[in-house]
Amino acid sequence: MIVIIDFGSQFNQLIARRVRECRVYCQIEPPTITAEEIRSLAPEGIILSGGPSSIYEKGSPRVDDRIFTLGIPVLGICYGMQFMVDSLGGDVRKADKREYGFATLFTKSNSVLFNGIEGETVTWMSHGDSIQAVPQGFEVTASTENTTIAAIADAQKQFYGVQFHPEVEHTVKGRQIIRNFLYDICGCKRSWTMKSFARETIEQIREKVGDKKVILGLSGGVDSSVTALLIHQAIGKHLTCIFVDNGLLRKDEAAQLKLKLKSHLNINIRFVNAAAQFIKALSGVSDPERKRKIIGKIFMDVFEAEAKKIKDADFLAQGTLYPDVIESRSAFGGPTAVIKSHHNVGGLPKKMKLKLVEPLQYLFKDEVRKLGKTLGLDEDLVWRQPFPGPGLAIRVIGEVTKKRLDVLREVDAVLQEEIRAGGYYRKLWQSFAVLLPIKSVGIMGDGRTYENIVAIRAVTSKDAMTADWARLPHKLLGKISNRIINEVRGVNRVVYDISSKPPSTIEWE
Ligand code: XMP
Repeated sequence: MIVIIDFGSQFNQLIARRVRECRVYCQIEPPTITAEEIRSLAPEGIILSGGPSSIYEKGSPRVDDRIFTLGIPVLGICYGMQFMVDSLGGDVRKADKREYGFATLFTKSNSVLFNGIEGETVTWMSHGDSIQAVPQGFEVTASTENTTIAAIADAQKQFYGVQFHPEVEHTVKGRQIIRNFLYDICGCKRSWTMKSFARETIEQIREKVGDKKVILGLSGGVDSSVTALLIHQAIGKHLTCIFVDNGLLRKDEAAQLKLKLKSHLNINIRFVNAAAQFIKALSGVSDPERKRKIIGKIFMDVFEAEAKKIKDADFLAQGTLYPDVIESRSAFGGPTAVIKSHHNVGGLPKKMKLKLVEPLQYLFKDEVRKLGKTLGLDEDLVWRQPFPGPGLAIRVIGEVTKKRLDVLREVDAVLQEEIRAGGYYRKLWQSFAVLLPIKSVGIMGDGRTYENIVAIRAVTSKDAMTADWARLPHKLLGKISNRIINEVRGVNRVVYDISSKPPSTIEWE
């Protein structure tokens, strides 16, 4: 296991991903962690991440420097290396020449970190500070044109530092460098698999929950389905899931999910149809945030009323993922009290005095999918695209009525069918339609029409933090538009959204 100390770099999740790709488990920890706490985790290595600060400035983040006395190999990246140098008696200063972007690295082949990388290699740099003098025991193992000390090593103590970012794709041999650190320096084994993760997590859930009962809000998305499977395998019938149909789902989705979840998961599930309640409360509301608040509030009420029927429940399970956990930490101060809640039940644990179980809190989305597969989850559920809690209510722009929801459902059904038939469903992070609150003139047969416009949105993304519009083939877009206008009454124009996030968001509201 590897501990990654988070000094606030925008790339720290990438470091974690790279380590896990090598089948080595890792955890990102805030700099407030103590050397004793790290020792108790018994890591095989420590990686110090980059960060936006300058080590010589007051208040810059530091981790307990006794980590250098634990006898554990350390790799410092960018700011992480500068922290190591500063702590061990070297000198870091503002660089004469800052370096951003690609830089050719000249390596010295005798460093284990550069095993298999002889001579020159392209790296990616982003720094305004440089090392002027290395601490005692260190040697310089690589340089670039602008940076004489671009990599350092104290091979005896197994301390390594690199000024560039091996975790980003632009560093051509970045993966090799991380592999060298993990396998050749730390002696890590390739032992972290979804099977082992599942086994350990199920055991941990058993230990935590004992013979108490757990409630879970099941949405049919991959996160909550995998959470359900894990907990069910740990405690069986002591888990009860609640599925709330809010009337804002896709066409036939509630019925299909009901069938699938029931037949496939063999778990206690209570289905609650609260569609009428949601639609009534949304009547006359156009403001997106008000829509969200109303939907969140009713969801809470419905969920709570159902949850109260389950006697002696002590725990609420949630499918919170790792990016949410990391995002909700302040950059330098460690975890904040509130962790972003996925399923609109954020306030519930406190209100109902429930403790939280979040078995996916160390996983990324694609790892959850792998875990789902390992646990035997139905392929369809494994690959479902994310769907927002407020559902189609934030895709009917402006006022939400049953009639407008139905138009959007028909449009969306055609879109989904074509996206799947074209082989794009799994390649896209999300694909959906948006019903706009304006009308346009059209001509059908011999007559003039004045009808709705829909926008198609299809994006690629890894984690929804950033996204790019999908370059779908014109032929496919043409077919989608054609079918929608022909098959869905009330729509006479289709447009394609070509905005990326940022500056746009994925959803329109
Ligand atoms: P945005 O629109 O902010 O969306 O780029 C990022 C991701 O979050 C989903 N989303 C939501 N999910 N409740 C949710 O549970 C919400 O209110 C909500 N708003 C957006 C969105 O579908 C995308 O995957």
